[in-house]
Amino acid sequence: MSDLRNKVAVITGGGSGIGKAISELFAARGASVRILDSDITRAELVAKNIRAQSQLASAHQCDIASQSSVLGVFEELCRNGGIDVLVNNAGISHVGNLEQTTDDDLDRIFRVNVKGAYHCMQSCISHMKARRSGVILNIASIAGMIGLADRFAYSMSKGALLAMTYSVAKDYLPYNIRCNSISPARIHTPFVDGYLQKNYSGKEKEVFEKLSRAQPIGRMGKPEEVAFLACFLCSDESSFITGTNFPVDGGTLTLSV
Ligand SMILES: NC(=O)c1ccc[n+]([C@@H]2O[C@H](COP(=O)([O-])OP(=O)(O)OC[C@H]3O[C@@H](n4cnc5c(N)ncnc54)[C@H](O)[C@@H]3O)[C@@H](O)[C@H]2O)c1
Repeated sequence: MSDLRNKVAVITGGGSGIGKAISELFAARGASVRILDSDITRAELVAKNIRAQSQLASAHQCDIASQSSVLGVFEELCRNGGIDVLVNNAGISHVGNLEQTTDDDLDRIFRVNVKGAYHCMQSCISHMKARRSGVILNIASIAGMIGLADRFAYSMSKGALLAMTYSVAKDYLPYNIRCNSISPARIHTPFVDGYLQKNYSGKEKEVFEKLSRAQPIGRMGKPEEVAFLACFLCSDESSFITGTNFPVDGGTLTLSV
């Protein structure tokens, strides 16, 4: 089991879905987790439940799209205990092809999914450099690797996140800072439930089954199945791994035909 004892881990979007599972697993493996979310109520609930298990967690309101919001939270975190691990997990979705994507849609996705990760990495990189140690993990998506139907803006944003992963991994090699990404296929979280509710009201169960069958393994992933890999990639067990993207996709990329 990967060990995160004595590490402080910041997880953005830790109040729900994949981020919640990562926060819970990291805390169970000994990390002190800092849960950042624009929805502080969710983040506080996750932190409270973790503390109820006698593990370490705190919740922080933070809109990653806002540089000043991110700077304020990260300055406080760097002062109080430092940051060993950053997981850029918070993200939002958008459905639509090129013609259906408005200028505002593209800006909104870019501000959260691309600039959000940039703000967070930029706010802690000098701190990690000074310590000559750090791990950054970006939660991308297979949408950034292949052409997913009707996901123009979302795919663009995840492709940018993959490129940021490689760029940061390269530039900070001399400082012992590792940077990797995980690219999940469809994982059953409130993100998916919200999409079904919005786009397939009344037919949620039917479309849920269809989407599950569309993945070669025959089901959606569970948030914990992403969290296990995240835990390994943020632990010292993966000390030789940097600049790599890992699909967690139930065979989607290789077994779909
Ligand atoms: N669920 C999937 O099928 C799937 C597949 C591939 C990749 N992903 C990626 O995984 C990540 C997590 O997805 P999820 O399914 O757990 O989503 P989710 O909607 O369940 O949770 C996302 C969390 O991020 C928070 N958040 C959103 N915007 C924010 C902002 N501006 N600042 C701070 N927090 C913000 C939300 O409040 C929420 O708590 C996303 O980046 C998503 O793109 C998800």
